[in-house]
Amino acid sequence: MAKLIRFGVSVDAELLDSFDKLILEHKYSNRSQAIAVLMRNKLIARNQQRKNANIVAIISLVYNHHRRELVNKVMEVQHDFQKIIISSQHIHLDHAYCLEIIACKGKNSIILELSHALGAIKGIKHTSLSMTSSGK
Ligand code: NI
Repeated sequence: MAKLIRFGVSVDAELLDSFDKLILEHKYSNRSQAIAVLMRNKLIARNQQRKNANIVAIISLVYNHHRRELVNKVMEVQHDFQKIIISSQHIHLDHAYCLEIIACKGKNSIILELSHALGAIKGIKHTSLSMTSSGK
């Protein structure tokens, strides 16, 4: 574990009061933990803006599996991007609808390309992209 550094922070009292309320809501143990989470989130968000950054992301899709051509296209696109797809899960939501969760690891720009390619498939009900960190 990295060395811990103690440092002082000066902020106005109202801001600190609001921040302490947020700490309670989010159930952080203390201000240090809350500030560390904010710092990490900011650094991860900055990294996600960089096209060449290596990131981990989850793409989710909802679609009607009765549309055969759509299912084939979803499969075809995933095979085209198999180098960055580390896992995928298919969940049957009901008689017609399926949820597919695709975990990816790779360059930000390529993950975006995959997300756009899947989102552009005609008939897809919903797609979402959630970016996170590789932990490094
Ligand atoms: Ni299904």
